[in-house]
Amino acid sequence: MSGNPIKPSTWAAGVVALAAAGFIGHMLPSTGTAPEQPAASAQPAKQAKSESPTPKAVAPVQETAAPARKTEATSASYTPPAESDIPKGPFGDMVRLGEAIFHDTQHNAKGFVGNDLQCANCHIDRGRQPNSAPLGAAYLLYPAYRSKNGHVNTFQERLQGCFRFSMNGKAPPFNDKVLVALETYAYFLARGGPTGVAVEGHGYPKLKAPGQPADYDRGAKVYAQHCALCHGAGGEGQKSADGQTVFPPLWGPRSFNWGAGMGSINNAAGFIKANMPLGLGGTLSDQDAWDVATYMDSQERPQDPRFVDSVTETRKRFHDEPTSKYGLIVNGVLLGEKSPPSGTINTMD
Ligand code: HEC
Ligand code: HEC
Repeated sequence: MSGNPIKPSTWAAGVVALAAAGFIGHMLPSTGTAPEQPAASAQPAKQAKSESPTPKAVAPVQETAAPARKTEATSASYTPPAESDIPKGPFGDMVRLGEAIFHDTQHNAKGFVGNDLQCANCHIDRGRQPNSAPLGAAYLLYPAYRSKNGHVNTFQERLQGCFRFSMNGKAPPFNDKVLVALETYAYFLARGGPTGVAVEGHGYPKLKAPGQPADYDRGAKVYAQHCALCHGAGGEGQKSADGQTVFPPLWGPRSFNWGAGMGSINNAAGFIKANMPLGLGGTLSDQDAWDVATYMDSQERPQDPRFVDSVTETRKRFHDEPTSKYGLIVNGVLLGEKSPPSGTINTMD
């Protein structure tokens, strides 16, 4: 097992360094391009309006942000066991393997990953952080019905979806060691928690609908000021000299694909509000979080692996909701039409 390429201590140091640098809004050291220029477009930012072929596509509204768990209580809380509680023996070994896969998916789940992300990039602190869809809290809610595929999903099936969409890869087969290890790690983290109960901090926060309809242009400014320093002016992320991803890509060919949960503006806004800028979660206003999520989710990324016939048909089947920009025209670009291919497994390493 190789180590975590992005050590928490490194980010902590980075965050401190950035904080020391004043986190200055217009700093874009890696590329030096103009902050307001949307990466995916040659058009001026002023024309950056999204046009919709369907009357349904309006500003995000809260109804669509709610998952199918309305009936469950959310008051209970529990604390996942400490890492030092992982027992010795075969069960503990499997927990440790799951943890290793979770924070270094690239190296430890080879053959199933098609981008530069790790599970822990979106489920912070190795899946322990509240409001970052923590893994133990998720385990407590499965098996569960999912409208995404219209049937009751086991936890392993849920995990398969993460590989297919968030990791732009390939689902490991049921009971593959990768899934068994991740499931075992999640089960370990869930210990002591109440099954069937949505505990405090589960999932990503559901933000109230924004005061003003979310706006791409404002989002571009928030991005330049609060995000580009780490994630790059073009959303491409940053790698260290030895090729390890230090700041993960937010869009483009090496990020999550159009089918991923983070491609829904409501999920992205909740994640960003609670967790970004890294180390400064909760500092953006809700409006800024909605705006920057809209900006991020209006950029090209790998194709939805469920693609059928055409972008229009794919939107109709899988994206016909105001929280998805797939299949809409933004800055003169029909999103989804020029998407890089999905499921590009890297067999080089
Ligand atoms: C690009 C960000 C991203 C990456 C990478 C990612 N996830 Fe997720 N994950 C999400 C989002 C967003 C959701 C919520 C999706 C929804 O509700 O539709 C989610 C949901 C989940 C859930 C269900 C959580 C719950 O509370 O119901 C599990 C379990 C999960 N992810 C595991 C993983 C695993 C394992 C990996 C790596 C193989 C992974 N995720 C990679 C963004 C990500
Ligand atoms: C200090 C550097 C830093 C800043 C500034 C920052 N991020 Fe991040 N971001 C990270 C790191 C590092 C991760 C991965 C976290 C982890 O693995 O624990 C991440 C993860 C993410 C992810 C999930 C992974 C992915 O690639 O999709 C999203 C989405 C995201 N950031 C959006 C934003 C947005 C939007 C902003 C601005 C509001 C922002 N970030 C500001 C460092 C930063």
